[in-house]
Amino acid sequence: MPESKMDPKSVRGFVGNKLSFSDISASEALKSAAQMDGEDIVAIVNASGLKGRGGAGFPTAKKWEYARGQEGHPKYIIGNADEGEPGTFKDRLILTDFPELVFAGMAIAGRAVGAEFGILYLRAEYGWLRAHLETAIERCRDEGMLGKVIGGAKDFSFDISIRMGSGAYICGEETALLESLEGRRGDARNRIPFPVQAGYLGKPTVVNNVETLAWVPCILLKGPSWFASRGTRKAPGAWLFSVSGDCKRPGVYEYPFGTSLRQILADVGAEDAKAVQVGGASGTCVPPAEFDRTLTPGDLATGGSIIVFGPGQDMFAVAENFQHFFADESCGQCIPCRVGNQRLLEAIARMRKVGLDREAERNVRQLAQTMSVASKCGLGQMSPRAFLSILNTFAGDLPAKHA
Ligand code: NAI
Ligand code: SF4
Repeated sequence: MPESKMDPKSVRGFVGNKLSFSDISASEALKSAAQMDGEDIVAIVNASGLKGRGGAGFPTAKKWEYARGQEGHPKYIIGNADEGEPGTFKDRLILTDFPELVFAGMAIAGRAVGAEFGILYLRAEYGWLRAHLETAIERCRDEGMLGKVIGGAKDFSFDISIRMGSGAYICGEETALLESLEGRRGDARNRIPFPVQAGYLGKPTVVNNVETLAWVPCILLKGPSWFASRGTRKAPGAWLFSVSGDCKRPGVYEYPFGTSLRQILADVGAEDAKAVQVGGASGTCVPPAEFDRTLTPGDLATGGSIIVFGPGQDMFAVAENFQHFFADESCGQCIPCRVGNQRLLEAIARMRKVGLDREAERNVRQLAQTMSVASKCGLGQMSPRAFLSILNTFAGDLPAKHA
């Protein structure tokens, strides 16, 4: 999309319910961080139980603790704004409406781990947001929220630059993102080492999702128990969800962990849903019999995305559409993903025409299993998940005589 054609204000209508971010002052949070040392900040984030909102749910404080303990310098904070999961647009809304919270979160992360420089890696398709974000960074500098002596603390310096993504889904994977930042093709790296050990330019690097970073000023200002009082014991806090598809009120909604899918469907006007895809194309397709399941790691893990499919939808057309996406976005580095996604796409197209006999089903399940365990990175490992969950429940959508 051309950079000048879209106004960031135009996405604001997408807010579905009140977001906690709306009454948080980034500047006050930074003043509070300026009174603390890195260890105190890590302890507060740890007490809150904040976990990564990019999808994997790794404890944020643990990641910061690891980075803090590294000897190498300089250290870096990367804001991962390469939001590319189909059906996911919550980070876009945070970037349009609350960019200062993201930048403050990066600066606070920097103080926690001993980093003075951050990069926001912005999805190429969000190029129209760049000017808006650059203006927000300038405003933060003018108001003493970025630069030197932040919050009046002589030892608190932090600045941020924006780098554009490369237009590839794989670049949202943190090691591919680092490759891209270093000017190479966005191929996933082997982990170990993790980025906290050797990340950007081989230096200790924290890569955090935009939403994760935006929660940090809230936690500093309102306290870890405020955060932890919502959600469940194992999954404290709330999460932003992008809700789209066949529903009356699509948008970005904030819900505490433990909220049932049924509750969300009632709120968005989709009680008659035939299925819900939780976690984007790499997530799970949930049928009505399971709508009482909750959005919590350990039950329905989510990358912050809910796509509703109404009564008329052909679920294998949905599976084929997702599969097209993965076949297109596979970086091609490893065979299970490069070849597997193409073969799975062909298999889905075939079964939509002629149905699926037992042998074909066995073969396709074996292929999906191989892709899940043998692919090098999350893209290939997760790519058959939606198809498998659709196959498990909606085989009735296939041509009847062969199903
Ligand atoms: P992961 O579980 O391997 O890692 C999560 C984070 O924890 C990473 O930052 C990693 O560096 C860190 N980490 C894990 N173990 C560590 C250790 N021992 N020491 C230090 N750091 C450690 O998950 P991954 O592969 O980074 O992400 C996969 C997730 O991303 C999936 O759950 C998927 O839902 C989500 N995803 C989100 C997308 C989006 O647009 N938001 C797009 C595609 C996938
Ligand atoms: Fe590339 Fe797919 Fe292999 Fe990841 S799993 S390295 S995206 S080919």
